[in-house]
Amino acid sequence: YKKITTKSLIDMKAQGEKISMLTAYDYTMAKIVDSAGIDVILVGDSASNVMAGHETTLPITLDQMIYHASSVVRGADRALVVVDLPFGSYQSDPKEALRSSIRIMKESGGHAVKLEGGKEIKESIKKILNAGIPVMGHLGLTPQSIYKFGTYTVRAKEEQEAIKLIEDAKLLEKLGCFALVLEKIPAKLAQQIAESISIPVIGIGAGSGVDGQVLVIHDMLGMNNEFSPRFLRRYMNLYEGMTSAISQYVTDVKSSDFPNEKEQY
Ligand code: KIV
Ligand code: NA
Repeated sequence: YKKITTKSLIDMKAQGEKISMLTAYDYTMAKIVDSAGIDVILVGDSASNVMAGHETTLPITLDQMIYHASSVVRGADRALVVVDLPFGSYQSDPKEALRSSIRIMKESGGHAVKLEGGKEIKESIKKILNAGIPVMGHLGLTPQSIYKFGTYTVRAKEEQEAIKLIEDAKLLEKLGCFALVLEKIPAKLAQQIAESISIPVIGIGAGSGVDGQVLVIHDMLGMNNEFSPRFLRRYMNLYEGMTSAISQYVTDVKSSDFPNEKEQY
């Protein structure tokens, strides 16, 4: 695949090729992630946490998401860029959902939007899709509903919630979503859903029986030592790497070791 499209992802699932997805929120990171061969870059509203330092994803605004997304789009050459609709930009009514999605597409140049929820936001999803904007779903632990859940623990362990999740996943497929994210649900349930629909299911904390995986880039690079859920694999310890580089710089400046003869004009 020279350039990833929503169609490429559906083809990947049909051919049994797993889909790789990571978040990015700025130009430089997007350029690195894209060059390394990622299929999908998610401009997640997790920017609210990792970029802005908020405790939840709720405070981030549509304008702020557009700023992050436009930066990412300039750094991405091959990857499909999916942008989260932030809390408050789509829940009130389908017209507002469409307006917000149009703003993202026009002002950031992103390729698709992602929304949290199933049946409750059915009309909004329809309206966005009718305008020709690709939609990625997001079910399971949907962080914009954290105050309803009260906790970030695994969702859909009880049968009733699992049944609703399966229904919602089938609904998203029927409506025409090109993919969906399943966050923090039992692996068996996630696999069952992935096997029962034809659109790709991208998991985070949803086991290996799905069609692809997504992680928050700051988490997988180990930039944050405090956040260690079971599903997270750290591929680097950037926190330590950066801390030692920065403290070395401090030492070098204090001791006048930096800059040296060759580092000046
Ligand atoms: O905002 C985000 O980073 C996400 C992923 C965790 C799926 O929605
Ligand atoms: Na998100």
